Amino acid sequence: MIKYIGSKRRLVPVLGEILERSGARTALDVFTGTTRVAQEFKRRGAHVTTIDTATYSEILARCYIEADGDTVHSEDLTAALAELNALPGEAGYFTETFCEKARFFQPRNGARVDAIRNVLERDYRDSWLFPLLLTSLMEAADRVDSTTGVQMAYLKQWAPRANKPLELRLPELLPGTGRALRGDARQLVKSLEPVDLAYLDPPYNQHRYFTNYHIWETLVRWDAPEPYGIAQKRSDARSPETSSPFNRKRELAAALGEVVHDVKARLVMLSYNNEAWLSADELRAVLKPRGFVQTLAFDSKRYVGAQIGVHDPSGKKVGQVSHLRNLELLLVAGEREQVEHACRPFEALASTSMDAAPSS
Ligand SMILES: C[S@@+](CC[C@H](N)C(=O)[O-])C[C@H]1O[C@@H](n2cnc3c(N)ncnc32)[C@H](O)[C@@H]1O
Repeated sequence: MIKYIGSKRRLVPVLGEILERSGARTALDVFTGTTRVAQEFKRRGAHVTTIDTATYSEILARCYIEADGDTVHSEDLTAALAELNALPGEAGYFTETFCEKARFFQPRNGARVDAIRNVLERDYRDSWLFPLLLTSLMEAADRVDSTTGVQMAYLKQWAPRANKPLELRLPELLPGTGRALRGDARQLVKSLEPVDLAYLDPPYNQHRYFTNYHIWETLVRWDAPEPYGIAQKRSDARSPETSSPFNRKRELAAALGEVVHDVKARLVMLSYNNEAWLSADELRAVLKPRGFVQTLAFDSKRYVGAQIGVHDPSGKKVGQVSHLRNLELLLVAGEREQVEHACRPFEALASTSMDAAPSS
């Protein structure tokens, strides 16, 4: 699983349990990101559809949600991974941009990414193996990067993991199938058939995922964009087409309200962060048209950048991080009896530590 800000690692067992208690057989993971939540729903037997605007998220979803672990020809996959792992490095755009002009990866690993990605484009583009192999490459690169988890900056000193050799591994596929959709949630939810449960996990500040994870966008698109700035971001990161209303404080409530209104689901779950732009009361107001709304709150650790502190480019500590923990809000909306039944195990845990949340 790639490092991803806002990823719901800790909330996953709770979300899975609520899905199961609600009896949902079909689910929608809007804003799916790493697909972590969708994977949990699939693991618990639901047919899942994912939505995200990011191309790397679509590739992850084609691998973990669409591909059926029971029917994949694992010998073909293993053989392809062995072939790619054996390729010698061949420095190209990726090495020059992300390892020489910037220092996100060691050049020897960058050269292997270049070589592997070129072969994927040449030999596997139209194969069912493509999203599986590309996911494996993204995850391999993530394991040897030199960041705190976002690609807006790299570390001044190489992270120890960056010195390890890049290694493609077999993605852990789940049995069953699902569907991966790429596009704006506001448009896509309108066209979908009803599901039992929809989970919404929108961005919660102005930092765009498109720029935070620009290297994954480029690795997937393989379009060698004109880079700019110290982090060598994609030039289209400045274009309005790659911005999201969910990253704009004044548009967020209306955009979320649109998705909540249009999504066809018996239960709607929304997770949000208490440091973000909308208060718990505002979130409840957004969900109110769906019926009864239950609010759960879980204490959780802030992302690693906040744990490390605020530093200037020379590495000197320049600021204080105000706090290291925050509250993850989870609101569940729908018919009262169903919501209360689905949330019952977590009522006592609400406002207590996520570390104590049960997993099933
Ligand atoms: C908080 S993250 C989701 C994290 C995810 N639940 C996980 O566990 O990995 C928000 C996601 O919303 C996506 N996003 C931003 N604007 C969007 C839009 N208009 N439509 C669909 N997805 C969008 C981002 O690409 C990002 O992956």
